[in-house]
Amino acid sequence: MPKPTSTSKAAKTKPGRFAIAILAAGKGTRLKSQHPKVLHEIAGKPLLAHVVAAASQVVPARNIFAIIGYQAERVRGALTSTGINFVVQSEQRGTGHAVMVAREALQNFETLLVLSGDVPLVQPETIARLRDFHDSHNAAMTVLTAELEEPNGYGRVFRKVRKRKETDEVERIVEQKALRGREARRREINSGIYAFATRPLYQHIGKLTTDNAHQEFYLTDLAELLREAGEKVVAVRAPGSREVLGVNTRLDLAQLDARLRDQKARELMEAGITIFRPETCDIDSDVQIGPDTVIEPFVQLVGKTKIGSNCRIRSYSVITNSELGNGVLILPGCMLEDSVVRDGAQLGPFSHLRPGSDIGEGAHVGNFVETKKTRLGKGSKANHLTYLGDSEIGEKVNVGAGTITCNYDGLGKYRTVIEDGAFIGSDTTLVAPVRVGHGAYIGAASCITEDVPDDALALGRGRQVNKAGWAAARRAKVKKIGKP
Ligand code: UD1
Ligand code: CA
Repeated sequence: MPKPTSTSKAAKTKPGRFAIAILAAGKGTRLKSQHPKVLHEIAGKPLLAHVVAAASQVVPARNIFAIIGYQAERVRGALTSTGINFVVQSEQRGTGHAVMVAREALQNFETLLVLSGDVPLVQPETIARLRDFHDSHNAAMTVLTAELEEPNGYGRVFRKVRKRKETDEVERIVEQKALRGREARRREINSGIYAFATRPLYQHIGKLTTDNAHQEFYLTDLAELLREAGEKVVAVRAPGSREVLGVNTRLDLAQLDARLRDQKARELMEAGITIFRPETCDIDSDVQIGPDTVIEPFVQLVGKTKIGSNCRIRSYSVITNSELGNGVLILPGCMLEDSVVRDGAQLGPFSHLRPGSDIGEGAHVGNFVETKKTRLGKGSKANHLTYLGDSEIGEKVNVGAGTITCNYDGLGKYRTVIEDGAFIGSDTTLVAPVRVGHGAYIGAASCITEDVPDDALALGRGRQVNKAGWAAARRAKVKKIGKP
């Protein structure tokens, strides 16, 4: 990019008042995983993506900086589409070190909000509230805290006491391992979410030391350092304790996943969707559903699935990244992936829609039918035991039981086209590439290797021979010699 000259607009444009840094460079040792902690998923989305989604509602993506380190390129790859910036902390020497490393990117903003890539439930309203509290108190540092029943493992926040009452001001933050005696009973924890005035932050951050249990630069030590330098350090409580829970272990991961899914189900029910036994359903956070749709027990709705209104999704169906219109009925046990099902269509039980399936308005796909890269037109039916791959099927087509498109010859894939109103008899094999014309008829058990003209009848099977009396003669013979 060319450097802006002093007269250019870019040079005069301030970077904006608020930036958000998300600490996401750590390995996540306690997960015992080969994968970066922040890419572990809850409610179908990486931890870091949840934090980015919340942050993006407070500041524009260009003012968000994820600090990455462990398997940085994988983390960057998973989040690039969000449009945020990345700063690499190649050696992870602590939360304080992460903020040091990002100095160049962050120091020109007036206020820096720091979020943690492993505290995924934080709400945009809470981030905004922290920002406003920080602003109105003219503080150098504001810590977001919560009271936890089980504070074990978290840093604790100790406030200044005046006239035997705790104030907004913070004395220091003490990490779990450094707590002494009665200090361990303190229930007010550090959420790992902060606001800083960048000027005093970068003026004093160099004073951090690694003189602690982990031999790391702790961002938390800035509370004491800033206070000693005469700066104001305050704390504000989050509206609830749930949203500041961190993920450090697999148990944390499972618990937060369950929480998010519970929350998602509640939101959907409030928006007019019926969910029976919601605790048995897994609905990812980006799933959208229209009102009056009914979700039965043990349904999984995955990824970016979008479901219209007045649908019914019966038990044991798994729907991934698919779009369903209005009034769609999914009978039990269906699997859908990257597919479209249009208004009033009906699937199942036990239908399998693989990527690229497009089931037309009012069409029916029945039990043990598998489709892939296939468009089934409006009002068409494939009700039993069928494979339709790489095919284009028109409107009002009847695909008989056991029909198979032979789309693969071991080397390449070929298309089958069936035009409007055609009737495909049961047990037909369609050897692609092949076309069945408009209104054509195919006799049952045909092997179709050539195109069928419009309105023709195609028969591609051996002729039947009846041998009169053959069975009776055989029985008589067996009786006589005693063996078949
Ligand atoms: C941290 C806080 C603790 C707080 C808790 C809340 C410190 C010293 N302690 O502890 O007071 O109660 O969060 O969840 O800050 N990270 C980096 N670079 C590093 C080290 C960590 O980016 O060099 C990232 C991690 O990826 C993680 C976040 O910072 O997303 C927090 O680090 P973690 O090691 O999990 O800190 P905690 O021990 O949980
Ligand atoms: Ca943590």
